[in-house]
Amino acid sequence: MKYLKYAVMASLLIGTVEASGPMGMIPNPMKMEMPDPMNMMFDLMNRTYDVNDADSQRMMDEAMKMAEQGNVMEFPWTRYAIAYVNSGDPAAGATAHKKLKCHKCHGDEGIGEDDDSPSVAGQIPAYTFKQLYDYKVGLRKDKDMQKKVKKMTAKQMADVSAYYASLKREDKIESTSIPHLAKNGDRSRFLFACEKCHNEKAMKRGLQTPIIEGQKVVYMTDTMMAFKEGDRDNDHYSVMGKIAGKLTDEEIEALAEYYAAKPVDEDEDED
Ligand code: HEC
Ligand code: HEC
Repeated sequence: MKYLKYAVMASLLIGTVEASGPMGMIPNPMKMEMPDPMNMMFDLMNRTYDVNDADSQRMMDEAMKMAEQGNVMEFPWTRYAIAYVNSGDPAAGATAHKKLKCHKCHGDEGIGEDDDSPSVAGQIPAYTFKQLYDYKVGLRKDKDMQKKVKKMTAKQMADVSAYYASLKREDKIESTSIPHLAKNGDRSRFLFACEKCHNEKAMKRGLQTPIIEGQKVVYMTDTMMAFKEGDRDNDHYSVMGKIAGKLTDEEIEALAEYYAAKPVDEDEDED
């Protein structure tokens, strides 16, 4: 069944790269006005900005309370909530990181201790906070992480997020060629370039798009496969699920390798 899917996907790929559309019957996808999921995502989020701060604080407190009671609800990303997350205290976060034994897997400096543990150093705070919240309510599933975040308070989550953001990320491996998908995407499959979202400008617009450069290659491959198979589905509007679902396993591996951290033994300039 799976192989059939890949065969169909591959033949579609080969068949449509140059054609204007299958059999010329449908309009050229390049010229079609596609709603941009990124803009849709931000527009929807911006709407919540109208909520006044007192109400947003109440919404956030309510969400945390519901999470404690085991209720699943998406975190209300209001302007207040973003400011709250961004005001986390890195020093308190460093203490929590040790006290809660996060360093056992994510390292003293936020670099994953093994291939399966993601590096959290240098990550944008809103993304880290969202993941911790998602584990807390079970929107993102992982046995170890769900157990770990169970007792974390909103303040601890914001502090740890600020601490991770202050740490230095591993350098991305140096590559001479950029995969086409990373830079240009593939219009024939309605695939956006990874860099459309995973770039500084998009992240400055504020929200929860992670930095992927310098991530552990095994973790990155696994998590993209999880998006593809639907095992990870905590992304807003299934943004990543829709993208990963269109990628072949080989493409996922190539992209993970492209974005991956430099192998440790090659790293000479330690400070
Ligand atoms: C037993 C090992 C272990 C411990 C201890 C641990 N983690 Fe994790 N963490 C993982 C693994 C493995 C994943 C990836 C799981 C998955 O695929 O969802 C992860 C994922 C994460 C992520 C998501 C990263 C991303 O890029 O999406 C964050 C943030 C995180 N952990 C923070 C913490 C914090 C904070 C603590 C301490 C309270 C902690 N972890 C303790 C193993 C651990
Ligand atoms: C439309 C915007 C968008 C595009 C295009 C996009 N991503 Fe993402 N990506 C996201 C968002 C948002 C998340 C965070 C999802 C969540 O909340 O867990 C994410 C998460 C990820 C993660 C998980 C990171 C981690 O630390 O766990 C990886 C890996 C990733 N993307 C890789 C890619 C690759 C490779 C491409 C190109 C093929 C791509 N993305 C294209 C928006 C995008």
